Amino acid sequence: KQEGLVMTPPMGWNSWNKFHTDIDEEKIKGIVDALVETGLRDAGYIYVNLDDAWHGKRDSLGWIQCDPVRFPSGMKALADYVHSKGMKFGVYSDAGEQTCAMYPGSRGHEYQDAIQYAKWGVDYLKFDWFRQDLVGAEGAYTLMRDALYSTGRPIVFSICEWGENGTRKWAPRTGHLWRTGGDIGAYFSESPCHEKPILWCIENNNTYRECAGPNAWNDPDNLEVGNGMSINQDRAHFSLWCMMAAPLILGNDVRNMTPEVLAIVSNREAIAIDQDSLGIQGLRVKNENGLQYWFKPLMNGDWAFCVLNTNKIPAQITLDWSKDFNFTDELSRRSTDFSNITYGIRNIWTGKNDGKTDKARTITVPGEDVVMYRLIR
Ligand code: GLA
Repeated sequence: KQEGLVMTPPMGWNSWNKFHTDIDEEKIKGIVDALVETGLRDAGYIYVNLDDAWHGKRDSLGWIQCDPVRFPSGMKALADYVHSKGMKFGVYSDAGEQTCAMYPGSRGHEYQDAIQYAKWGVDYLKFDWFRQDLVGAEGAYTLMRDALYSTGRPIVFSICEWGENGTRKWAPRTGHLWRTGGDIGAYFSESPCHEKPILWCIENNNTYRECAGPNAWNDPDNLEVGNGMSINQDRAHFSLWCMMAAPLILGNDVRNMTPEVLAIVSNREAIAIDQDSLGIQGLRVKNENGLQYWFKPLMNGDWAFCVLNTNKIPAQITLDWSKDFNFTDELSRRSTDFSNITYGIRNIWTGKNDGKTDKARTITVPGEDVVMYRLIR
């Protein structure tokens, strides 16, 4: 795969969570404009990614085309538009003959599709795994990785195979990011359908911790912030994606957002935790009574800290740093060393400095919400 492409988790927008197959070029251009106007592009959200259903048919020589009715100006024109706004452009395909929504997949056309994407100016490919009759996910994804590489164009390769085929062994050398599970839904703890709730995605993604690092990220799926959960659930969801160094790919209608939703996804200090250049996925050090305590090692000896209250009711807790949270993280070989080091506390969601770690404190974490700090060395 291309080296050095996504040294921090990719950030952007994807059409699936909000719009599913209902996409067209006017809508996508509107999204691009909104990303610029709201300041989200400047906050780092630079990939604009079409998901399933942009496709038309293959022409007589096998070259994939976009839907001529919904994308009359063509993919090259849309990519040019995205680039003219200082952003990057992504498309979606499938390792099988068909995509999940029954559009043409890339099987048997891998090199031809890679060439076509490069001609259009594509910067990112999400590659799905719909056809179960294909043997060997590793082989199928390696083939597409090599096809993209051979174009010479830097194209981020996003593996969407749900972690079901020994993914953790081969995905880190094959893709720049890989889905660790099935499709996310805008549900916090329980889902009424096949879509996975936020807490499930966190639990599952956490088991992949050691696979992640610069240019190779675990993907618990795109964000559902702004798609119908309560504002505290949205904040908890976004915070945990930052703690887990997950890709921050928005999945809402950014043309039409409440100020509260915009404030969550554009919180620069939360984003900085996700984008920290050490690139180490956070770890959960304690999980009891529905309260999860997460730490993420950051550059310059800092740590990110987050308490997630998965209960529906508020929790009052005491944080006694040196008594409860002195530990060494085996993966990063970093120690919190609270007995010897006093960290300054920066509260990420109030945006205020909030004392030091030299004494214990009692705090309240609202139901299905977080308290998130940067501990400053
Ligand atoms: C699969 C993927 C989703 C989305 C749809 C599109 O379900 O996991 O993320 O791309 O296909 O049909």
